[in-house]
Amino acid sequence: MRDTSHGAHETAATFHAVYGTQPTGLWAAPGRVNLIGEHTDYNDGFVMPLALPHTTLAAAAPRTDGVLRLHSAGADGGIVELRLDDLRPPAAPGGDWAAYPAGVAWAMREAGLPVGGADLHYTSTVPLGAGLSSSAALEVATALALDDLHGLGLPRDELARLAQRAENAFVGVPCGIMDQTAAACCTAGHALFLDTRDLTRRHVPFDLAAAGLRLLVVDTRVRHRLGDGAYAERRAGCERGARALGVHALRDIPHAHLPAALEELAGAPVVQALVRHIVTENHRVEQAVTHLEAGRPRAIGPLLTAGHASLRDDFKISCPELDLAVDTAGAAGALGARMTGGGFGGSALVLVEEAAAPDVTDALHTAFATAGHTAPRIFPAVPGPGAHRLDT
Ligand code: GLA
Repeated sequence: MRDTSHGAHETAATFHAVYGTQPTGLWAAPGRVNLIGEHTDYNDGFVMPLALPHTTLAAAAPRTDGVLRLHSAGADGGIVELRLDDLRPPAAPGGDWAAYPAGVAWAMREAGLPVGGADLHYTSTVPLGAGLSSSAALEVATALALDDLHGLGLPRDELARLAQRAENAFVGVPCGIMDQTAAACCTAGHALFLDTRDLTRRHVPFDLAAAGLRLLVVDTRVRHRLGDGAYAERRAGCERGARALGVHALRDIPHAHLPAALEELAGAPVVQALVRHIVTENHRVEQAVTHLEAGRPRAIGPLLTAGHASLRDDFKISCPELDLAVDTAGAAGALGARMTGGGFGGSALVLVEEAAAPDVTDALHTAFATAGHTAPRIFPAVPGPGAHRLDT
């Protein structure tokens, strides 16, 4: 879908124009930035995303004939009409946007939930391909809309699991559970400390304005896709590491045991480096939570920058534009910076004193222009709410 900037009123009005009836309601789900804890989610590890104010809105009404109709303000091609009984994974390759909501309906029905037909119309302000989880926002907005339309009252983590299943099994992207849980469970003013092993979570205060800080998102405009193999390769490498070390998941290697684990993997340098990243990254998340809960937000800066070095050198998923953003921000006085999300493009985040934000922003624009890169899109991230129904 293209980036669209429609408000609730316009989304409802377009639903009416497209389908000829009023929607029963409107549901919103946000994009996210991950503060720290990258590629740890498919290793049963820790993550700490926060919800962006950018959201996907779904206007929806139920149908009684087993038909799902999907329409997006950001996609060409009009209404996509599907029979629920005909939905079978995998969706056709090519990343058609409608596979995400169709996959959610499929996953809910496959879980035995009484989900019937519906008309849905979407608008979104979540930047696409920027590593800010536009797909999870689309999935979770759909899951919450279908949940509410059918009076299911599912818990938030269950909605996240169904959305992840849609993406894994129906769309065919082997992502972890972080993005869907962020979209479903985040709260305003907080980062979400999530244990991806059992989805236990804590809302960690992250009131940047009160602390005199800014968190800048730097969308490098290098578009990334998770379905292209490199993500699956890293995931398989981590699983090989866990098998070689005799643990269920790399989460089970305590930080204190890292030297011994690395020695055991001395003959497999690629897997060794992946393991080093995961174990140190889990440790960084735990340190970051401690700092934030103790009211020391500035102290997470060096953890962010160390996380970037680990993703660049050990996990090998950065790119020149992300490295330039992180290095430039650091040289211009930021407290810390790192790439965020799946990698190979997308966005970096920069923690900076509020007063220094304009200089750091200028330095980033200048560095990108000098290097001949497309101008980045830079905006402040303020932790917003997770998925919710809108008052109409
Ligand atoms: C993508 C995936 C997530 C997670 C991140 C990396 O956003 O969807 O599950 O693995 O990459 O942390």
